[in-house]
Amino acid sequence: MLTKKEIVDILKDDSQNKELFELADKVRHDNVGDEIHLRGLIEFSNTCKCTCHYCGLRAENKTVERYRITPDDIIQFAKNAVNAGYKTIVLQSGEDVFYSKDIMCKIISEIKKLDVALTLSIGEKPYKELEAYKNAGADRYLLRIETTDKKLYKALHPFMSFENRKNCLYNLKKLGYETGSGCLVGLPGQTIESLADDILFFKENDFDMIGIGPFIAHPDTPLKNAPNGSLILALKVMSIIRILMKDINIPATTAMETLNPKGRIMALQSGANVIMPNVTMSKYRKKYEIYPNKTCTNEEIDKYKNYIETKIKSINRTISKDFGFRNI
Ligand code: 5AD
Repeated sequence: MLTKKEIVDILKDDSQNKELFELADKVRHDNVGDEIHLRGLIEFSNTCKCTCHYCGLRAENKTVERYRITPDDIIQFAKNAVNAGYKTIVLQSGEDVFYSKDIMCKIISEIKKLDVALTLSIGEKPYKELEAYKNAGADRYLLRIETTDKKLYKALHPFMSFENRKNCLYNLKKLGYETGSGCLVGLPGQTIESLADDILFFKENDFDMIGIGPFIAHPDTPLKNAPNGSLILALKVMSIIRILMKDINIPATTAMETLNPKGRIMALQSGANVIMPNVTMSKYRKKYEIYPNKTCTNEEIDKYKNYIETKIKSINRTISKDFGFRNI
């Protein structure tokens, strides 16, 4: 365990970054091994009712061409990904009420017939809905807290409630989901102290997965003029999380790769053990622009799998053939 002060000191001092990354890599090796889990990501709707100040898909961004993929097509994309060898499907969307409880349950139960693990990343939902999705077969749920700094949370999400988001995470745990959270690094107004609080929040709640991404300014958002977050700081936050939460799943995130072409490989060598390749049809991908230049925009499903396998082998790691649940 580390105290808040110790975490702050590590985050502020860059003289021992190499040692930090190496330690996180060793903890990853000793606890979750050398296998990398691939999760096939389907971005099925870019329609969103939220107005998060950093996000390109915010409701107030009128330049986005909105799309909704039909349930049949979502199920077909999932089949394609399973045929390509994916053992987990992640369904992600903006907060889009079009997909009612019944529609989602149908999609979930059809995908679960494919003998695959299923993760949802569809935002804050009432307890009853989360319960229905769990009963329909969903295994995991991703909901980043984004920041635990309440004032900053309020400033960036004027119409949302920090308490509601936290409760939603507690409900997910109570319902037996493998629960993922995470935060953005480098938001304007975010302090190192608040990043330390984020790390302690993840540890206290013993989440099963934590995704960390550097903030990347989107030109059609209120934060368009803010500087991007730092990849190194995001990697440091991720490494400390690996050291404190030895057996969880940690993705090398696309936002890291967007800031540096080697970003995901750096992450995999600093504590990460998961990659989430985009398996959505390419015509939709460009429209899912949470932040600009999202790297996955050019990945084709089969080609990308070959490419990532070669990369993974080059750093002496292998692709897992398991579902990749947390080893409890
Ligand atoms: N830069 C980086 N990450 C972002 N996200 C949203 N907007 C941005 C941005 N501008 C992240 C949020 C969200 C995830 C799906 O994408 O953390 O939870």
